Amino acid sequence: MDIQARTIVDAGKQNSGCTVVLILAGKKLSAAARQLDKACKGLITATLKNGDINGKCGQHLLLHTGRTSGPKRILLVGCGDPTKLNDKAARQIIGAILTGLRASKSKDASVHLQELGGGKVSLASICEQLGKAVTRASYQYQRTVSKPKPGLALNKLTVNCGKTLKNPAAKASLIRGQQTGEGINVARELGNLPGNICTPSYLASEARKLAKAHSKLHTRILNEKQMRELGMGSLLSVSAGSAEPAKLIVMQYKGAAASKKPYVLVGKGITFDSGGISLKPGAKMDEMKFDMCGAASVFGTMHAVLAMKLPINVVAIVAAAENMPSSTATKPGDVVTSMSGQTIEVLNTDAEGRLVLCDALTYAERFKPAAVIDIATLTGACVVALGAHATGMYANNDKLAEQLNDAGQQSFDRVWRMPLWDEYQKQINTPFADMANVGGPGGGSITAACFLARFTKKYHWAHLDIAGSAWNSAPKGATGRPVGLLTRYLMDRAGV
Ligand code: BES
Ligand code: MN
Ligand code: ZN
Repeated sequence: MDIQARTIVDAGKQNSGCTVVLILAGKKLSAAARQLDKACKGLITATLKNGDINGKCGQHLLLHTGRTSGPKRILLVGCGDPTKLNDKAARQIIGAILTGLRASKSKDASVHLQELGGGKVSLASICEQLGKAVTRASYQYQRTVSKPKPGLALNKLTVNCGKTLKNPAAKASLIRGQQTGEGINVARELGNLPGNICTPSYLASEARKLAKAHSKLHTRILNEKQMRELGMGSLLSVSAGSAEPAKLIVMQYKGAAASKKPYVLVGKGITFDSGGISLKPGAKMDEMKFDMCGAASVFGTMHAVLAMKLPINVVAIVAAAENMPSSTATKPGDVVTSMSGQTIEVLNTDAEGRLVLCDALTYAERFKPAAVIDIATLTGACVVALGAHATGMYANNDKLAEQLNDAGQQSFDRVWRMPLWDEYQKQINTPFADMANVGGPGGGSITAACFLARFTKKYHWAHLDIAGSAWNSAPKGATGRPVGLLTRYLMDRAGV
C-alpha cells in the first residue's frame, strides 16, 4: 500500500475513489467537509439535515457523488468534540474509517484529519494507528485456498493533516504504523498456515530467508544433535515422538553497538500440539496448529524492527517442535534433564510448551540480556482466567512489567499482570525429580509461569501467556497479537 501525507488545499477539487471527512459534534462540518459540500452542491448539508448522521464519535456514512471528477465517494465520519478526543474515541474514529473504506471498495482514498490532535491523543499517534489499521485490513489468507476472497481493494492512501502536523512527521508516523501492521500480518500468516506446511524446518527456513534479506540480521539454526550436545533434554523430549525434527532458531539483530545489552524475545513454536501420549480430545484439535503463535509473534516483531531499523540490539529465539504420540514419544512419568541441569518429571506430555521454553530460556543467558520476554500459547487455564482481551503477563521485575503494561495500553494490545508468588511453587514439587511439569488443577497458568521462573533467575524476565489472545475461533484466524505490544515496547526502548 502506498501511504502519503499531503496538504490538500481544496478537497472538493481532488480526484479520489473515496474522500473521508470529519463531521464534528452537533452536525458541524469540518473544513474539508465544507469544501466537499460546496463542490457537491450541498449534498453533505442535506444529508445532515435528514438526520442520517450527527457527528457522534464513530458514526460513518458512505455517499456517492455521481461525479466523474473530484471525489467519487464521500465517507462522513463522526468525531465528536475534537478537544475531548481520548484513546477510545480515536479508536472509534479509526474503526469507522476502516469500516467505511472496506464497504466503499475504493482503490484510492484521501483522509482529512486536520481537526484532530487537540485532545489527549496527538495527531501523530492517530496517523500511526491509521497506518497500522489499513495495513491489517489489507491482509487476507490465501496460501492454501484455490479461489481466495479478495482483500481490501485500497492500494493508495493520502492523509491530509493540515497545519496541525507537518507532512514529513505525519508520513513518518503513518509508515511506522504500516511497518507494525506488516509485522502483525507476518505473524497472522505464519499462525494461519497449516501444520503440514508450517513445520519447525519451515520456520527455520523463514529465519534464514530473513537473514539473507537483511545484513544486520544473523541467523543460527541448531539441529537436534547440536541441542543434545548442549544438554537440552527437556526440549528434545517434546519432539521425541515426531518425524519432524525440532529446531532452535536464533536470530540476532544488531542495530546498536555490541556493548549494548540486547532485548531477547523467546517464542513457543509448537507447530502442532496433539498433546503427545497425553493425547488431547478431538474437538477443535485443529486449532493446535496455532500453538506456534508465540514464535510467529517473534518473527512478526523482528520484521517490524528490521523495517524500522531500530537502534537497539534484539535477539529472537524460537523453540520449534511438533508434539506427537508414537512409540518413541516421551511417556507420562519419564524424567528428563534440562540444559540448566534441573530434572523434570513429565507428568503430562501435553504440558510441552514449558518443556521447550525452559531450555530456550537457559540458552538466552549467553546473550547477557537487558531483558528476556517469552511469548507462548501456554495454558488453557489462561483462557479461563482472562478470556481473549488480555494477555496474561508474569514478571520477576516490576519495571519490566510496567514497561510492558504501558506498551500494551499504547498499542491497545493489552496485558494483565498475574502473580508469581512463591506459595504457588510447591504445586510443582515431586518426589521423583527437581520439579514436575504440571501443578494440579488450581491456577494452571500461574504454575506454568512458576515452572519457567525456575529457569530465569539470572536476568529480568517477563512471560506472556497468549493462549486466549493469539487467535480467534469464529471466524477462525490468528490475530497477530502481541506483535503490536512487542513492537511498541521495543520502539519505546529505542526512543522512537
Ligand atoms: N497449547 C496448549 C495450551 C492451550 C490450550 C492454548 C487450549 C490454547 C487453547 C498447551 O500445550 C497445553 O496443552 N496445556 C495444557 C496444560 C495442562 C496439561 C497442565 C492445558 O492447558 O490443558
Ligand atoms: Mn499441550
Ligand atoms: Zn501447547
